[in-house]
Amino acid sequence: MPDSAEKTIYERADIYHDFYQGRGKDYRAEATLILELIRDRNPVADSLLDVACGTGAHLRELAGPFETVVGTDLSPKMLEVAMRNTPEIPLHQGDMRDFRFDRRFDAVTCMFSSVGYLATADDLDKAVRNFADHVNPGGVVIVEPWWFPDNFVSGWVGADIVNVDGRTISRLSYSVRKGNASHMEVHYTVAVPETGIEHFTDIHVMTLFDRDSYEAAFRKAELTVEYVKHEQAAPGMFVGYKP
Ligand SMILES: C[S@@+](CC[C@H](N)C(=O)[O-])C[C@H]1O[C@@H](n2cnc3c(N)ncnc32)[C@H](O)[C@@H]1O
Repeated sequence: MPDSAEKTIYERADIYHDFYQGRGKDYRAEATLILELIRDRNPVADSLLDVACGTGAHLRELAGPFETVVGTDLSPKMLEVAMRNTPEIPLHQGDMRDFRFDRRFDAVTCMFSSVGYLATADDLDKAVRNFADHVNPGGVVIVEPWWFPDNFVSGWVGADIVNVDGRTISRLSYSVRKGNASHMEVHYTVAVPETGIEHFTDIHVMTLFDRDSYEAAFRKAELTVEYVKHEQAAPGMFVGYKP
């Protein structure tokens, strides 16, 4: 029986994980870029915290090069899948604006536009300040932003279908701008030979912060900031450094 009840994909973390693996999101290449950006600025960096780590796909790649890696995310379901995928990596539930660790790291990362879920510039400032508070002097903060107001394409349609471990997942999305946010409606259809087809929809409201707002958040947190464009990160990356 189709189920059209609204669910967030982060509650269905196993489907999130399979979908992006199946779509070929190249977490290994992204991790290589993260490593380069960090070690270019701090060649002896050896500890990393991934904020909004999701199902742990970047952490799994970064656990080799770094002596210590730790993850945090708001969603217990995403963390459950991360724990299954990377049982050796410590994971903690927390909000990016106010998580607390009783230690600092050489690098803090926040990937795949997760900061877009913050609703206001004040929240963005709080989150970046919190990242800065958790890096050592000489530490690096990397934030992959969501689109800016001037490069977001309103009316964008995305369509993918993948097969992973006997499960077929289709994802159809439609995104429009409403005020200073993008509203993305996503329809997932999941087919499993033994149990049939399931359908659910998901709405993602994400703030279209402009480049100045990101850079201001870094400066307020007493970090230097560079905006780096790269094919592995479509909306670019903000790279902060704590002198
Ligand atoms: C697009 S996913 C990215 C996950 C992972 N970084 C990746 O690259 O696959 C966005 C993640 O942000 C998390 N998230 C959303 N709001 C958050 C918040 N305020 N604090 C911490 N995590 C949050 C969600 O639970 C979800 O795991």
